[in-house]
Amino acid sequence: MFYQPDARDRTALPHDPFKAIVAPRPIGWISTVSAAGKVNLAPYSFFNAVSANPPMVLFSSEGAKHSAGNAEATGEFVCSLATYALKDQMNASSAPLPEGESEFAFTGLTPAASRFVKPPRVADSPAALECKVIQVVRPVRLDGATADNVIVIGQVVGIHIDDAYIVDGRFDLIKAGTITRAGYMDYVRADAIFAMARPAGGGGTQA
Ligand SMILES: Cc1cc2nc3c(=O)[nH]c(=O)nc-3n(C[C@H](O)[C@H](O)[C@H](O)COP(=O)(O)O)c2cc1C
Repeated sequence: MFYQPDARDRTALPHDPFKAIVAPRPIGWISTVSAAGKVNLAPYSFFNAVSANPPMVLFSSEGAKHSAGNAEATGEFVCSLATYALKDQMNASSAPLPEGESEFAFTGLTPAASRFVKPPRVADSPAALECKVIQVVRPVRLDGATADNVIVIGQVVGIHIDDAYIVDGRFDLIKAGTITRAGYMDYVRADAIFAMARPAGGGGTQA
């Protein structure tokens, strides 16, 4: 089968497989504070690490939403790790609450103060990245139109890890129960790890 994105055979593929192909995707559970000081929390799976030195992450908002708006206005965001134990709260935090109503209160999650940025992290999460915004990108499509996306790129300035998930000096993502997003209504829980040495000249431990 081959198709162009806007010409899919909807009989064979009733639901768009794109997000099942580029999967599983890490979930950035993004907390921000509005210019008025209101805390916001929402999950983003158009999220990834894009550099290790310095550590940088990005998330992409499909349309104007509170997280990207707040991050652009204040220059700060925090991404907490989404885990199986927190899956229901993570999902609930995607509800479109009115501006200013905090998803922390709505989901019963506990906020914990960050060191270098105003947005709190999710205290219950095994790990969180404090980020400062370095660029906001509004991509232009091939037809010249501005896409309805806002991509927020942040540099990580502080990393929290719950010591309970450090095993032999390594962050144990299986113990943490990291969950990732697949297509459709699907998620993937990290449950197996294998390691491979790189070939000579293969980029060391980069990415
Ligand atoms: C697991 C998960 C991943 C999501 N990923 C994205 C995403 O990458 N981009 C996006 O715009 N919305 C995404 N959403 C939907 C947003 O979380 C939802 O629109 C939310 O209300 C946005 O909140 P905000 O306006 O407070 O930022 C996702 C939802 C879930 C449950």
